[in-house]
Amino acid sequence: MITKLTIDRIMEATDIVEVIGEFVQLKKRGANYVGLSPFSNERTPSFTVSPAKGIFKDFSSGKGGSAVTFLMELEKFSYPEALKWLAKKYGIEVEETIESTENKEEENHRESLMIVTGYAAKFFHESLLETEDGQSIGLSYFKERGFSNETIKKFELGYSPDQWEAFTSNALKEGYQQQFLEETGLSVKRDNGTLYDRYRGRVMFPIHSFTGRVIAFGGRTLKNDKNVPKYVNSPESEIYHKSNILYGLFFAKKAIRDEDNCYLVEGYADVLSVHQAGIENVVASSGTSLTVEQIRLIGRFTKNVTILYDGDAAGIKASLRGLDMILEEGLNVKVVLFPDGHDPDSYVQLVGTQAFKTYINQNRKDFILYKTDILLKEAGNDPIRRADVIREIVESIAKIPDSIKASVFIRECSHQLEIDERALLSELNKMRLAKARKEAQQNTRTIEPVDYLPTEELPQEQPVKKEDSSQEREIVRLLLLYGNKMIDWDGITNTYIGPFMIAELGDVNFEHEASRKFVAHYSKEVENGILPDEQFFIHFSDKDIVDLSVTLLATKYTLSDNWYEMHKILVPDEQVNMKATILGAIFHLKKQKVGKILDGLRTELQKAVGEADTEILLNQYMHMKKVEKSISDYLGSVILK
Ligand code: UTP
Ligand code: MN
Repeated sequence: MITKLTIDRIMEATDIVEVIGEFVQLKKRGANYVGLSPFSNERTPSFTVSPAKGIFKDFSSGKGGSAVTFLMELEKFSYPEALKWLAKKYGIEVEETIESTENKEEENHRESLMIVTGYAAKFFHESLLETEDGQSIGLSYFKERGFSNETIKKFELGYSPDQWEAFTSNALKEGYQQQFLEETGLSVKRDNGTLYDRYRGRVMFPIHSFTGRVIAFGGRTLKNDKNVPKYVNSPESEIYHKSNILYGLFFAKKAIRDEDNCYLVEGYADVLSVHQAGIENVVASSGTSLTVEQIRLIGRFTKNVTILYDGDAAGIKASLRGLDMILEEGLNVKVVLFPDGHDPDSYVQLVGTQAFKTYINQNRKDFILYKTDILLKEAGNDPIRRADVIREIVESIAKIPDSIKASVFIRECSHQLEIDERALLSELNKMRLAKARKEAQQNTRTIEPVDYLPTEELPQEQPVKKEDSSQEREIVRLLLLYGNKMIDWDGITNTYIGPFMIAELGDVNFEHEASRKFVAHYSKEVENGILPDEQFFIHFSDKDIVDLSVTLLATKYTLSDNWYEMHKILVPDEQVNMKATILGAIFHLKKQKVGKILDGLRTELQKAVGEADTEILLNQYMHMKKVEKSISDYLGSVILK
């Protein structure tokens, strides 16, 4: 367990904008920062960070919380993992209460796996730099390929000795458990149950997670033997999902953001050489074809992708269709082809940074135009094949979500394809329509009604339907914001708002689960003589309460302006007339509750016609009717004045 003192230190040091800024491109908007949600694939930023409150709120996925919550959601960290990450970032020493060493490794499975991969990276790196074989075989290979000491260090390159058990036996001796060695794929089990090294006599490329921890490896053979696989990679594991990883992203993310462009290459060596040349915004898909997850990963940092291809035509053609996926994600795709026989690695090593950059700038082509080019050349003069090309190109263009951009491409391609722009446009519209229909059919996702407006630039499709819980949540919001503040009640008496509200609401039964829990906790604190503030609830142990608090805090008004209009509250700023705000909320809620009771009584009355208890019900009904009226009158007198 991490000590309370350490947690406090971490919380104190943590700057939420800085932390989230490592993962999301944030722009300042008034007192807050906004960016694209890392949790969903949105195109209009609704992800909001409030540095003053130390919270984020993602209006597209509904997630929200502190910097710790953010790391837990995004990196799937456990609570202690997230704290440790922050501690490392801010140079805070973590104090933990002692636990038995046997249990320590089991504390968290993922953490255990990462501890093992981290240890392995260190082992291979040291073996490269400090052992004789490592130096004479591994290091000299890297040197020959032009990798500097700095690059070798930064990317933690390594060497795995050409022996069956060099790594495994060391790891076991150091106390790492067999289970984790196997699960990470670093060791392989023999039939007799003993372990041997997966990587032998290979140079090692550690693969880093988004947060810079080693989670897997690629090991390259140094032999020129066709029967030996060139690369051996880590198998999928609980910490390594190949389709979610881009090699080099941890080292590239800042530059990608700064340059607003991401270079996409194929191999480990390409990343290293291009990065070493000072072009740091480079990542690799590592041999597999690009996945949607990888594209979205890039999309968090930039909308511009430049693919650097080897000069191998067959490979390019194969990947053309896959690239439509990038268009679909709303990214702008450019393509650069290197001279035959060269990949980005060999080319940059050959010509140097400046010439490399110049080459890219001069040969950069837009993906669609490039694709058109290639397909047209292939089709030659065959009219049927040309028609196919046209269809295929329009199909690609139809995937671009931005219709203005799409029409620009239509114009350019109409020249290339030598076909009338209007004909292409009508084809495009047909496809878009079909696509929209299909999506509408598939779109079973129900949009949860939200009645708050987080920022000005939320998408327009805000459902107008009002949730029944809005009145209850308004109470929670007021408690959060003003509960520990004083109100000048009548020019004479000052009261704390929180205890006042709690007392007034004693007879109200909250139905909205999170609100009920919130109010219950609030009352408990008040009973103990404490006035909890925002931070108390933001860091609360119950996730429902954190979610609710953050949602409400991140919101300018809980209730849309409509609500205020509907209830004739014409004060634009609720603090101007605090009394009306507080009493209005309390009595609107009470009125709602009374309305419900009346509804219930009415139903019972209808059922009970002629029965003996009709009169009792009727009496109750009349009584509640009076209560309703008095609340209305009261609201009228307090609020409307
Ligand atoms: P390349 O064959 O282009 O490798 O494969 P490379 O990185 O340029 O290596 P060098 O320059 O010959 O040393 C591109 C990527 O495909 C994956 C690796 O991620 C590699 O970097 N790959 C390739 C494998 O996973 N396994 C293989 O057997 C080959
Ligand atoms: Mn290569």
